[in-house]
Amino acid sequence: MTLYPKSQAILSENSRFIPGGVVSTNRAVDPPIVFRRAEGAWMWDVDGNRYLDYHAAFGPYVLGHNDRHVNAAVLRVIEEGRSLFGSGTTELEGELGRLICDVVPFLDSIQVLNTGSEATYQALRLARAATGRDHIIKPQGGYHGWHNDVACNLMTPLSTLGPRRNADEYPFLPISGGIPAGHSELVHAVNFNDLESVEAMCRKYPIAAFITEPILQNVGLIHPQPGYLEGLRALADKYGFVLIFDEVKTGFRHALGGFSSLAKVTPDLVVYGKAIANGYPLAVIAGKKYLMDLFVSPDASNRVLLAGTYNGHPVPTAAAIATIKRLAENNAAIYTHFETLGARMQTGLEKILKETGNRAVVARQGSAFCTYFMDHLPLDWHDLISNNDPEQDNHLRRDLLDRSIYFFQLPMKQCSLSAAHTEADVDFTLEGVQSVLSAKLQTNGKQGSLHG
Ligand SMILES: Cc1ncc(COP(=O)(O)O)c(C=O)c1O
Repeated sequence: MTLYPKSQAILSENSRFIPGGVVSTNRAVDPPIVFRRAEGAWMWDVDGNRYLDYHAAFGPYVLGHNDRHVNAAVLRVIEEGRSLFGSGTTELEGELGRLICDVVPFLDSIQVLNTGSEATYQALRLARAATGRDHIIKPQGGYHGWHNDVACNLMTPLSTLGPRRNADEYPFLPISGGIPAGHSELVHAVNFNDLESVEAMCRKYPIAAFITEPILQNVGLIHPQPGYLEGLRALADKYGFVLIFDEVKTGFRHALGGFSSLAKVTPDLVVYGKAIANGYPLAVIAGKKYLMDLFVSPDASNRVLLAGTYNGHPVPTAAAIATIKRLAENNAAIYTHFETLGARMQTGLEKILKETGNRAVVARQGSAFCTYFMDHLPLDWHDLISNNDPEQDNHLRRDLLDRSIYFFQLPMKQCSLSAAHTEADVDFTLEGVQSVLSAKLQTNGKQGSLHG
């Protein structure tokens, strides 16, 4: 059994100065492992334990930790004295804009921010300014950041959610204190994969925007059903709302043009973050000219304020340029590598789960995957929470720590491969899963139950 005495000591010392001991409280997990360094696909903690990383810091590490190309670009801007000037434009930000518009042909222009939350915030502002409407729709189970409009209706327990509400909205269920009550009037949460509910909202309220991840990747990995994204596009055109794809997780991880390009559905606005800069803090809002130009509208009453001391900071900007160039190399061959590794992982997991008598499915898109302990791939959050067994998921994650494999220690959290993972790493992981589930099978066999 892996032990974490130094980690425990650091957490208790840090708790004297930081509430809960952890910066960004959604990172607080049990066991409270304190990581010290990482290289490629591997991480080391302060107690000297080593782990094969599938958390990827919630998704950014598409090339792996400490990537030498990204490091070199970052060191170069520092050595060249490319400081943060906070005045006028820079060559670097122009290079990033050109690069992104080149690799994602449906984009007219971009703006650069630091985090995904800032980008979704600005996207909703643009939509409201463009339409003159205030109401927005989001899917139950979708995450778009920490701000007031979207910090709601995420991993809501079934007891709060109640019965499935087709073609209807769920109550506004904030995931934070301090959100003004007025937001419950303006934000409408509906089932993912349910076009009827979106149309019902459009009939009921003047909708400015529908914001969604094209694949729900904050509750594992829930794919859009065939026709769903196309249906959203058609409804946006019919009712005049702005279709926002939040590709903070899916963008640059599944394809250079994000999942939009694979689905061949063009949103009005798109936001990227995470994998775009391989671990450096950078996010992008991009899309159609008539919307993006509201940032510089000659009409001051409609101009959308875009400010931020650190927007376009040279360090993350250089990291993003290096990351995108690397992803684009050899005709974006890296995505074939992801598909090969991902498929090997999925097939291996499915075989082991079946052979060890587990009722489970593996959802996957390229390098991202998630095991659900239920008998079908979920359609939406309600379906997932009604059928999945989080305890089995928890046990698997916990026991894998003793096999040097790090899945984030919360059920239904997606795993991510990186370019630094190898076939040998995948096989090592499958051996770990096999050993955990076989041990469980033996214990349960002795107790007379397969699914305990
Ligand atoms: C889909 C999605 N949108 C937005 C965000 C917010 O990004 P950030 O944490 O960089 O503010 C996240 C973060 O997990 C995300 O997964």
